[in-house]
This record gives sequence, structure tokens and C-alpha cells, in this order.
Amino acid sequence: MFVPKTDNQSDLEEPCRNPGPWQCTICTHQNETSYISCELCGVLRNLSLYFNNAVGTEGGAKRRNKHSGVSVLARSLFSPPSPKSKAVVFSDGFQGNTNTTGYMQASLDALHETYMTHKQRRVNIVPFKFDTPSPDDMVSAGLKSFKHVRKEAPSIDSVDIAGKKVMDDHDLVTQDAHTDPSSSAKLDELGGNGSSVDVHIQNKTPVLDDELQHLSLEGKPKNIKAKIKKPVSVSQYKAEPWMLQGEDQKMPRQLNLAIVGHVDSGKSTLCGRLLHALGRISKKQMHKNEKEAKEKGKGSFAYAWAMDESAEERARGVTMTVGVAYFDTENYQVVLLDSPGHKDFVPNMISGATQSDAAVLVVDASVGSFESGMGVNGIGQTKEHAQLIRSFGVENLIVAVNKMDSVEYSKERFSFVKSQLGMYLRSCGYKESAISWVPLSAMNNENLVTVASDTRLSSWYDGNCLLKAIDSLAPPRRDVSKPLRLPICDVVSSHMLGQVAVCGKVATGAIRSDSKVLVMPSGELATVRIIERDSSRLNLARAGDNIAIGLQGIDPIHVTSGGVLCHPDYPVSVASSLELKILVLDITVPILVGLQFELHIHHAKVSASLVKILSLLDQKTGKASAKKPRMLTARQAAIIEVKLEREVCVEEFSALKALGRAFLRSQGITVAVGVVTRVPEQVQV
Ligand code: GTP
Ligand code: MG
Repeated sequence: MFVPKTDNQSDLEEPCRNPGPWQCTICTHQNETSYISCELCGVLRNLSLYFNNAVGTEGGAKRRNKHSGVSVLARSLFSPPSPKSKAVVFSDGFQGNTNTTGYMQASLDALHETYMTHKQRRVNIVPFKFDTPSPDDMVSAGLKSFKHVRKEAPSIDSVDIAGKKVMDDHDLVTQDAHTDPSSSAKLDELGGNGSSVDVHIQNKTPVLDDELQHLSLEGKPKNIKAKIKKPVSVSQYKAEPWMLQGEDQKMPRQLNLAIVGHVDSGKSTLCGRLLHALGRISKKQMHKNEKEAKEKGKGSFAYAWAMDESAEERARGVTMTVGVAYFDTENYQVVLLDSPGHKDFVPNMISGATQSDAAVLVVDASVGSFESGMGVNGIGQTKEHAQLIRSFGVENLIVAVNKMDSVEYSKERFSFVKSQLGMYLRSCGYKESAISWVPLSAMNNENLVTVASDTRLSSWYDGNCLLKAIDSLAPPRRDVSKPLRLPICDVVSSHMLGQVAVCGKVATGAIRSDSKVLVMPSGELATVRIIERDSSRLNLARAGDNIAIGLQGIDPIHVTSGGVLCHPDYPVSVASSLELKILVLDITVPILVGLQFELHIHHAKVSASLVKILSLLDQKTGKASAKKPRMLTARQAAIIEVKLEREVCVEEFSALKALGRAFLRSQGITVAVGVVTRVPEQVQV
């Protein structure tokens, strides 16, 4: 009989339950007595539960008391932003474009040594054992973050920014091993997240490299802006009848489902198993995968190989880029976004998960593995992914408690996982009613598409199988009433779609064939030639649809991942400085003014610097305090000004959430999450 481990039992604390209805301290909404978190903004009734993960470090209990009022996560990210504040003024001495990363690293390390006790330092859970290069470098240098176009239409290849065809992924992978990590910085200048730029070309063709640098969007902002029509106020926008839902009743509802979770929790295996059970993988293909995986001594990864297609991913047994696949349920056309779990690939995970409507958080029930994901010895990606996904606006979550076979389908272990993780999820702002818990074994195909057949599970579990849980997810909200915004995830070239094709999810509005779109930030107009989803042609796509679009009448150099397709009369804002409201995560090194970091906004990734900390937000009230600190430490919330190395397409969070969420990453970890509260630089004409 399996005996669950209870060494973390002390983490389990029930929220305080004062009798009677209660008012949310954040949004002042009156909630019913039975609710443990605010119905409106998701903030927990008992604020002390935020960041309860501090327990376990030295003096953890004390720290929890000290920060008992920390409630800024939800306030910072999920409540409406405060009214516009004062204008942003950058300090004179700021050298925004100077790359001082090396210097910052040194000084931060010194600070780290000075301020942190040995026990407070993070211990990486799974030391990264890959030979070369650093995955973050590859992410920066343009490994494709999405593979779905190649999966669905093999004729499509990635193109570089100048529209030249580049090699397929297998070549790319081989070359990655010899990539000079320094190339990432250069490529970052090219626009977007650089995800369609080939590192091989970077290394081997310095001339082209120069050309590419020359093509940097930064080099020609004046021309760009001159081409953009004077923006019309969005308030004047009126959606045309064809854009609105209802006209095309036959169109099924699309659900973008991110599969997230700690490394090796079984995400890809689960996706592969699901697809296989639903007949989306042919017997022949499965047989081939099984045979090849066995030959390479990776027999247990045969199902994961359905998602992990590149030679490198297969050799390492680790997902590196987001895999995309499709299947249908009764209610939804599901777009599966299989994210990498390893901490070094969080940027890729962000790129995929930013499109999700709902998520499946896969946790490994095995003894020790679940604890690793929860970060007993460091930052576990179970927690990091759960928090990131919530800050992307995902409200509905399925927790797939996987590898139940390894704990003999123990009910006690399942309950233990549920209570431990449930507590944390609520602290992230998930409502209890929006979380479904499904015990399963991806490997043994237990409880995936049909009810469990193993009596060790079916004897105590009679809830939904995974497929049913997915089908029962609440329909995502779609905003078709606003002007078109389609953040570009990838730029591709294909025989079917033409020389310039882009992939991404329509954030707002609608798009149809033969219509004109404004490609930002270049400000060039293009015509929509073809719209495709899962290799099927569509006449139109609306908010929420994940599609590939063939464009014509535009030079490929004007189309970059991280850019946005817009309604021609309503261009998205473009800015190179921003005001953000952030929540600092559990970092060990303080964030100082001048820090250089990577800023992720939808699919754009840009080097940025912290120019000013405008104010610290009071941990209890969420109001700005007069204090202007020189640095920020873990769990503080603040309003900051940042300067970006180049312009990005962005919206204030209050105007469009999908384009107003920001993630700050430094030294390979997410140091803060936040929202854009002000876009000081609007496009001027
Ligand atoms: P990353 O994408 O790299 O984060 O990993 P992942 O979460 O996709 O895990 P993956 O599917 O690659 O599986 C990792 C290992 O777990 C493989 O050896 C799988 O065979 C194994 N595994 C997956 N599901 C199960 C399961 O239900 N039971 C058992 N015992 N092993 C499983
Ligand atoms: Mg995987």
C-alpha cells in the first residue's frame, strides 16, 4: 500500500473564515460567506495565504507573518489599472542602449553575496546538463517557438527576416549545438522575438548578418511612422456585420489549451497518448515512433515523440519549443499547445501560453517528483507555470495528476497533491470552482479519453476523464467588437500560403480573406490571401482563433514575429518606453534601477532597462506609497518605468489585456510579472 509523504503538511493552512459576507480588500466587491476568494478579482479572502511558498526557507514562518498583507499579485495583474498617472520622465543620465549586462551581472552577484544568507539561495532542481548552448541563448537566437505549421504542412519552412528560405528544423538543431551564444543579443535587435531568424545563417554568413542588422526595425522608425494613417479613436470603431458571431453559425468554437507543468511531468506523453487515442496519429506513425524510440534507448518516450519532433528534443528527451496539435471534442476544436517544462525554456513556454484560453497543469504524482515541481529545493515549474498562466488571464485550469501508476493509483497521494497544490493555486487567484482535478496515467492510458479501467483508480474516482474535463471547460470570452489585433507568433514561408505567412491567435476583432491589414510596427499594408487552420481553408477567423495567414503585397522584411496585424484605420500603439505595474516574484537578487532584463509582451521579446521605480505599492492596500525605493526585493509590488531597446507593439492593460501583459526575465528566470499601465510614446504623425 502506498503511503503518502506528509513532510510538507505544515504548509497546509485553511484560510480564515470569518462569519458573514465579506468585502474584498482589493476591489471592494461584496462576496458571499462561502467564497474563499473574491468572485470579481480572484483575490483570496485570507491575504496571508499569498506567497505561502516562503515556508520551508529559514525563518519561513516569520516571513509569512511579515508579508501577511501581500495581496498585490491579484491587484497588480487582475484588477483594473489605476487611472492614468503622471507623465513618464526618464532620468537624464540613463544610457538605455548600452549593453551593460556583464557589469550588472557582476554587481548583482556581489549584492547577492552581501544580502543573502547561504540558505536563502536557490538551488536548481534539475541542473541543466545540456552540452551547448544555453537554451535561453537559443530562444533569443530564434529557435522556432512554434512547430505547428511545419507539423501540419511539411512544405512550410521558417524564413529569415529578409524572407529568405532557411533550412528545416533538423538542420537548425544540428547547428544550434555550435551556436555562439553572443549571437542572441544581435538577433534581438532584429525585431519581434527573433523566432524566425536562423542562427545558422548568423554564424556562417557575416555579410548577411550585416544585412540583417541593417534591416533592424530600429533603423527606420521615421519612414515607418510616416506610413501609418492618423489613428482613429477606438471608441469610434463599429464592427461590421460579418465580424460578429452568429452570422457564421457553423464555425466551431476554438479552444486554445496550454499544456504546462514541471519538466518530465509527462506533458508530451499525455498529448501523444490523447492524440493517439483520438485517432490523430496513424498506427504506422506510432509504430515508427515506438521502433525508433526503442532503438535509441528511449522507449518510454514513444508517445512524447508525437510532440517532440526535432532530433535534439528526442535525443535529450526534453521538449524545447511549443508543440501544436489539434483534436475535436463535442464542444470544441482544441488547439493543444504542448509547452516545454524545463526552466531554461520558460521564454518559449510564455510564447505559447500567452495564446491559451485554458490550461492543463500536468503534475507528476511520484514521490519526490511532485515535491520537486513544488520547489522544495528551489523554484519548481509547477508553481512558476501556474502563476504565469494565471497572469496570462487563464482562469480555467485542469490539473492532470499524472503518473498515478507509479503510486499505485493511491487515493491518499492524490488527495495530498490536491491539498498541497490547491492551496498554492488559490493563492495565484484561481477560483476553486474553476479548477478540475483529474488523476490519470498517460503512460497506461488510464482516465484519458474514457473512464479508468484499473480498479485501483475506478474504485475511488468517478469524476470526469481528461477528455470530458476539457470538453466541460467554460467557453472562453471572445472580443469581436474591437478592431482587429493579431499578435504575430511566427513568420513562415510555405508553398500553400505564399512567401509571407504568419501564425498567431486573433486577440480581438475578425479577419477575412481579401481584406487589408496593417502590419505593425512597420506600418505597411498587406492583403490577406489565405487563412488556414489545421491545414483547412477558412474564409474568416474571429477573436480566439489560432490561424495561419498568407499575406500578399508586402515585403517580408516588414513582417516580424512580435509584430501585430491590425485594422488599417486602428493601428496598435507602438512604444519604446513603458510604465508597468509589476509584482516581483520570489527572487534572491534585488532588482536595482539600471537593471537590464528581457521584457516579454505577447510574442515580442526585447531587451529593456529599469529606468525608475516610481512608487512602491503598499502591500496591504495596494495604494502607491510615497517611497521611491532604489531597489525591489521579492514579493514587492511597484510602478516602474522601463526603456526598451526598440519599439514594440503594445496596449495598456485596461484597453486590451492580451497586449498589455508583461513578463520580466533576467539571468534565465522570470523575476517579475506585470501589466502595462501607461504607454507614454504613442505613434505620432
Ligand atoms: P518536458 O517537455 O521536457 O518538460 O517533459 P514532459 O513533461 O513532456 O515529459 P515527457 O512526456 O517527455 O515524459 C517524461 C518521462 O515520463 C518519460 O520517460 C515518460 O515515459 C514518463 N511518463 C509520462 N507519463 C507517465 C505515466 O503516466 N506514468 C509513468 N510511470 N511514466 C510516465
Ligand atoms: Mg514535453
